[in-house]
Amino acid sequence: MVGYEYGGPVDCNVELDLTSLRGKTAIVTGGAKGLGQAYALALVNAGSTVIIADLDKSAGQSFAAQHSSQLYFVHCNVLIWEDQVRLFAEAARLSPSGKIHHVIANAGIFKADEVYSYSEQLSEPNLITTDVNVKGTLFTTKLAMHYFIKQNGTTPSLSQEDTSLVIISSGAGIYDCIRMPEYCASKWAVRGIMHGLRRTAHFYGSRVNMISPYYVETTVLPKKVYEYIRGKGIDFATLEDAGQCLLRLLSDPAINGHSLFIAPRKWAPRGYMDLDLEDTEGTALLKEIQIEQMISEPVDSGLFPEVRLYM
Ligand SMILES: NC(=O)c1ccc[n+]([C@@H]2O[C@H](COP(=O)([O-])OP(=O)(O)OC[C@H]3O[C@@H](n4cnc5c(N)ncnc54)[C@H](O)[C@@H]3O)[C@@H](O)[C@H]2O)c1
Repeated sequence: MVGYEYGGPVDCNVELDLTSLRGKTAIVTGGAKGLGQAYALALVNAGSTVIIADLDKSAGQSFAAQHSSQLYFVHCNVLIWEDQVRLFAEAARLSPSGKIHHVIANAGIFKADEVYSYSEQLSEPNLITTDVNVKGTLFTTKLAMHYFIKQNGTTPSLSQEDTSLVIISSGAGIYDCIRMPEYCASKWAVRGIMHGLRRTAHFYGSRVNMISPYYVETTVLPKKVYEYIRGKGIDFATLEDAGQCLLRLLSDPAINGHSLFIAPRKWAPRGYMDLDLEDTEGTALLKEIQIEQMISEPVDSGLFPEVRLYM
């Protein structure tokens, strides 16, 4: 595995070669419904074993029952550390190789934004969206790193098996979404996980990428809200294209540190594209700032250097 290097946007108009995903094991949080289900289905069809983790027991169990011996359900609240520890242990136990190769930190919620709302009577806003979308994703990240390091060690070598973490952001982590500061903050925050890890993931034979869906009809919003949005003439991206987008990232070990946008077909021929927003290349001043920013924490001092600036 080579370290992070900017090589331009990912070509999203290629036929996928899925042979590397056969026999691999993946975890998909929030995999019982919606986009998580689409990611899990795409992986199952590519020949991987998938462990879905979800709060919704009946949806998770009935989805798993349709693909027995390749898809397993673990009841899990991503907000509870012990639940996620159990999830990863169970996934390793169910994995045909005993290993976990890919982790999709997908579980997320969207709720009425109490930071934005106003009432005469001031009260503390409920920040459950931040908890699930950020804290839950950070717990998943910690566990994914832990397992990848345990499996691959910390010295890059050809014997390390490709592993990867995929973080789920949103269009709300890219452009302005009006009147929802908390959801936007949560989706910009998880983008930071990718930026904080992509330059050191190769030490443990790993990669970290991100997916940002545009509108896709799932169970996250009530049907009538989708009808309203469609009524405004907005095109949606599809669940099938979301699945293919994930496979594009996972099946190509050269892709590290990228973000793919799940898009309507009018913008992307295969329903996903690299908007090329994640690097400073091409903007001289930003590039200079980025390089200087890393001088005190250079990549080549290893995964866990003895002396660190930010201990
Ligand atoms: N649908 C969209 O248009 C869209 C757009 C941008 C980003 N996203 C992101 O994609 C991800 C999936 O969204 P979706 O649209 O499929 O939503 P969804 O509500 O259809 O599915 C989310 C799944 O996560 C599960 N979940 C929720 N909280 C959980 C918790 N604490 N622990 C474990 N499981 C939990 C739910 O039970 C559900 O099965 C989310 O992170 C969301 O923010 C969705």
